[in-house]
Amino acid sequence: MAESMTGLKRSHRCGEVSETNIGQEITVMGWVQKSRNKGGIIFVDLRDRSGLLQIIFEESDCGAQYFAKAEKLRSEFVAAVTGQVELRSGGANPNLKTGTIEVRAKSLRILAESETPPFPIEENSKTKEELRLKYRFLDLRRPDIQKNLMIRSQAAILTRAFLAQEGFLEIETPTLIKSTPEGARDYLVPSRVHPGSFYALPQSPQIFKQLLMCSGYDRYFQLARCYRDEDLRADRQPEFTQIDMELSFVDEEDVMDVNERLVQKLFKEICNTEIKLPIPRLTWKEAMDRFGSDKPDMRFGMELVDVSETVADSEFAVFKNALDHGGSVRGLCVKGQAGMPRKKIDGLVEFAKGYGAKGLAYLSIQPDGSYKSSFAKFMTPEQLTSLASAMGGEPGDLLLFAADKNSLVYNVLGALRLELGRQLDLIPENSWKFVWITQFPLLEYSEEENRYVAMHHPFTMPMEEDLPLLDTDPGAVRAKAYDIVLNGTELGGGSVRIHQADIQSKMFQVLGFTPEKAQEQFGFLLEAFKYGVPPHAGLAYGLDRVVMWMVGADSIRDVIAFPKVKDASCLMSEAPAPVDEKQLVELGIEVKAEDSPAEAEE
Ligand code: AMO
Ligand code: AMP
Repeated sequence: MAESMTGLKRSHRCGEVSETNIGQEITVMGWVQKSRNKGGIIFVDLRDRSGLLQIIFEESDCGAQYFAKAEKLRSEFVAAVTGQVELRSGGANPNLKTGTIEVRAKSLRILAESETPPFPIEENSKTKEELRLKYRFLDLRRPDIQKNLMIRSQAAILTRAFLAQEGFLEIETPTLIKSTPEGARDYLVPSRVHPGSFYALPQSPQIFKQLLMCSGYDRYFQLARCYRDEDLRADRQPEFTQIDMELSFVDEEDVMDVNERLVQKLFKEICNTEIKLPIPRLTWKEAMDRFGSDKPDMRFGMELVDVSETVADSEFAVFKNALDHGGSVRGLCVKGQAGMPRKKIDGLVEFAKGYGAKGLAYLSIQPDGSYKSSFAKFMTPEQLTSLASAMGGEPGDLLLFAADKNSLVYNVLGALRLELGRQLDLIPENSWKFVWITQFPLLEYSEEENRYVAMHHPFTMPMEEDLPLLDTDPGAVRAKAYDIVLNGTELGGGSVRIHQADIQSKMFQVLGFTPEKAQEQFGFLLEAFKYGVPPHAGLAYGLDRVVMWMVGADSIRDVIAFPKVKDASCLMSEAPAPVDEKQLVELGIEVKAEDSPAEAEE
């Protein structure tokens, strides 16, 4: 039977007991990791969130009654032990923080019994993730997940303290808001009071934080829960947390400055890493040209090389076609890989095709200086030599080329560069390469919608010198937008906002919003802007992603207490789930029977 806490007080956490406590009587409470009865002596490893502590029960110390109770202890029982801290009688365990000591028990209470758990509670669990997520409350007892969540807590607390010190106010914004069409798909919440109307869960506090600037709060931040109904990946969840901020009377330099210092502080305090400031910057164009990505992994080289000019006269149809259609030919020089087996190269070609490439041309420079190539027969020896030299290729190197429209070439070679980096082990561990990406394109043409859409959001300020292009060449306008990237992951992004009515209405016009439509969607923001709006700018990080890097997790699920899986469901609570008919009636909602597969195909 479970005993109570009456008259008992915990004096220490298990992992916090040390040699300095030797001789003291302490009381610890936790879960039984392991219990071994060696006949006359029982060893129990007791675990709490701080670590493990070895307890030893001997009848001569604790008496027959407690010894008999100790014999009942099984894995995951909750126990309270009072006893004396001693140097370990057996050998020390160097793998354990408390490995040199043990507690000689005097008394024991069993606070709760436990059924045998469906998997062992241990670090680096080999149990399948589905099972662990179904029993997340047990999985969360594992030391590695506990460490992740403790670091997450530390990151949140440090962020709050830092931003408060910098004069930011923490202000909450609503999470039942009006749906806005830009961005990802919204999660909707039906209204009972207004049948047929819906709230949306916020994708970010964007509009509200801009309103707070209009209201004079000048420096705002929030650890904000955001919701996006989008395809999930290893670093994406349907609900996630942003460190969100907005500042008035600033330009992008001010935003970058305070954020560089925030990032420096967080990584210093939590990872004991010194990040040198200022964080380097690349324009979007430079990042694409050199790394084929707007979130370049700067931990290794192997940059893209544009060889369009060098191959301009070649008869190779693949290159010629791409150039004739306004595209480019670019390559990667893979050092020392001229001997890469054909099969492996074919694998890279398939990889490139997965990113939409029609193929991948290669030229390997043999140690004797001769070439092996998929396209040598279309080029003169001089052309091959000038191509190799433009690529910085030397004997022993493998050159890979993609030819297509620019966006595709970037995409393919950007991905291939990362893949080769991984395959060839070129990415150093324990390296933290931060970079700001600036001057993003303001707009992106959506083939699907047949119009320009905002690359960041419709309130992002164009660069002043590009303003005239809004009329003549909107696709070429650069934005006052910036992303902060770490080791190839976008940690955060933001922009200077438009605070001039004329530029905002021009922007809406370019985005294909009629004034009425703009009014309908963003009326309250536009209205607020009529009454004195300060220049303002902001940024938001994905807190989950920041923590992923801090703890070295491969999956965002490892830094979220109760995450969802790929199909956006929670394996533990089984959300989402059907609701009572009564609830639906109240909401005026009728659920159509799910189409049978045959009907769905029609
Ligand atoms: P953005 O859409 O770039 O900007 O989002 C900011 C950061 O949020 C994180 N993030 C995510 N993390 C986990 N799961 C997701 N599904 C997910 N989506 C985004 C990323 C990203 O960099 N309001 C603007 C910010 C601003 O302009 O101030 C915004 O939301 O790390
Ligand atoms: P093909 O003439 O189609 O047989 O292609 C000759 C070589 O060029 C093969 O190695 C293809 O993989 C490669 N190739 C085809 N299309 C492209 C492309 N768009 N970019 C780079 N290489 C390509």
